[in-house]
Order: sequence, then structure tokens, then C-alpha cells
Amino acid sequence: MTAVSLRVDGVQYSDDVEPRLLLVQYLRERLGKVGTVIGCDTSNCGACTVHLDGTSVKSCSVLTVQADGSEVTTIEGLGAPGELHPVQQAFHEKHALQCGYCTPGMIMQATCLLRENPNPSPAEIREGLEGNLCRCTGYQNIVAAVGDAAQRMNAAAIADVPDPAGAQA
Ligand code: FES
Ligand code: FES
Repeated sequence: MTAVSLRVDGVQYSDDVEPRLLLVQYLRERLGKVGTVIGCDTSNCGACTVHLDGTSVKSCSVLTVQADGSEVTTIEGLGAPGELHPVQQAFHEKHALQCGYCTPGMIMQATCLLRENPNPSPAEIREGLEGNLCRCTGYQNIVAAVGDAAQRMNAAAIADVPDPAGAQA
């Protein structure tokens, strides 16, 4: 057993784990974070995508011991309490929530994509999500939702910029 200490969705956890325990297993089986899904277990489908220190990773390809000392965000910790993240809201409104299998990973990957590229073209969205598979190939609404989320987040960022005229008043 190996001691690990990591922060998941804002809560600090210290545990003893088998060195071979995958991060996705730790999240689901120890912490009950079942929104992180195992679709393939071979790092192909992206259903297990989480953020590790702000970068999206496929948690079926990361050992829990590799996450020692890190900050992990799962789909359960993405929005503020009682409030959906703009990407979650856009998936809801654009009917991109097609099944519970691919959706959490798609949203986690999309969130990271928008952090790196706040204004992606549809082609860039498709490229950014190419590691996340939808078994029913329903990508159209997903791409639309990510574009919509980008607009929302950009509008919110502009609204957050203090108005210099207002500041002087
Ligand atoms: S379960 Fe991790 S990529 Fe499919
Ligand atoms: S909608 Fe989830 S696999 Fe197709």
C-alpha cells in the first residue's frame, strides 16, 4: 500500500492505495464519484476524463499514486454548488446530453478546451473532442453546445471587466 493525499472537488483526501489502483477506480469506488465513467478502460473513449491540476486526463490511464499531491476535478465538482457550469448549461439547452456514458467526459474535455482556446471554430471543437467517443455518433449537438458555451463564457468575462468610467464615478 502507498499513502496518497489529493484534493478532489475541493475536498482533501488521504488514503492508502494499491500502487496499481487506477485513478478512475479510486474516484468511483473509494470516493463514490460515479459521474466519472469507465467506457473502454483502454484510454480510447474519454468517458473517464477528469481535470488533474487543471489539465484534462483520461483517468483510466493514470495511477492514483501519480495524482498524489494534485488537485482533481470531476464532473461532480465542475459547477458551483447548486449552479451548473456554463458548459453543463449549454449541453442541457442544446440537447447535447444524449447519454450518461459519454457526456461527463465530453463536458470535462470541452471545459479544458475552452480554457485553452476561448473562441474555437467548429473544426477546432471537433479536433479538441476527438479523444472522446460517442457510440451513437451524435456529435452535432455537442459541437453546437461547446460553441454556445464559449459565447456565454466570453460574454460573462466581458461583463466582469470593470467599467473605467463607472470606476471613476
Ligand atoms: S474509460 Fe478511460 S478512455 Fe475509456
Ligand atoms: S450519446 Fe453517449 S455514447 Fe452516444
